[in-house]
Amino acid sequence: QLTAWVNGRFLPLEQATVHIEDRGFQFADGVYEVIACFGGRFLDLKPHLERLERSCSAIDITLPRTLDELSELVEQAYQHNPFEHAMVYIQVTRGVAPRSHLAQQNMVPSLIITVRDLPMPTAEKLEHGVSAITMPDIRWKRCDIKSIALLASVIGKQEASRHGADEGFWLDGQGHVLEGCATNCFAVIDGILVTHPLDHQVLGGITRDMALRVARANAIKVEERAWKLTESGLSECLMSSTTNAVMPVCHIDGKTIGDGSPGPVAIRLRQLMLDEFE
Ligand code: PDD
Repeated sequence: QLTAWVNGRFLPLEQATVHIEDRGFQFADGVYEVIACFGGRFLDLKPHLERLERSCSAIDITLPRTLDELSELVEQAYQHNPFEHAMVYIQVTRGVAPRSHLAQQNMVPSLIITVRDLPMPTAEKLEHGVSAITMPDIRWKRCDIKSIALLASVIGKQEASRHGADEGFWLDGQGHVLEGCATNCFAVIDGILVTHPLDHQVLGGITRDMALRVARANAIKVEERAWKLTESGLSECLMSSTTNAVMPVCHIDGKTIGDGSPGPVAIRLRQLMLDEFE
């Protein structure tokens, strides 16, 4: 029996409902976080909650709880649903009001927390890597905000799935790889781990941060710059997210990356990151 936090209390998931005039439902007027928990230990809980606060403040919602209170609530939510590998979802919306684009002042934000089993990558994906397609970025211009307005990502994932691929990578007008539908993207170019710099076109992934930190700490050279799949010297691609850690991406648009199997940097970085989780 799964238990969710909704409107100030824990309820069985089936009874955990929100009002049909919640602005999250009508306008996608809200933000979210996904946090992983392994054997009862949260990975980067604080950075996730701090990003939630930044997302809220970017759209002028005041978090209904302090970060310490939120952290306590997340722990409690986990205690109610203690999966070995858990995925905590937190959503904050502006709250409930008669539908009007212009929000009322002083609304009471809605806060919901659910916990689910975290799907682990299959042995097959770890061994052979995953696949992706590229697509022109049709999203809005504030992808740094972790908005619940995810229609473009839903379309992207469907398109990827139609091509038998695991993820869709967004390209800017010049063909630079920005990020994936729900992942940050990296390439290894001339031995350097390259990823798009933080700006309004990408989400500042918590796993991206961790990957860069772990890479630097282990003498893997890192560069944050715009990059293309067509660059000579590109030998590997990777993607990162809370739900994947880092995953090698071995096929993009039906073409083989490197020799078609996970490369040395991807394998090493993934292991280094898993060691950090321990
Ligand atoms: N997605 N970029 C986008 C567009 C994302 O949606 C996500 C995460 C990431 C990776 O961020 P992080 O490392 O902090 O998880 C990058 C989550 C997992 C989701 O929507 O389910």
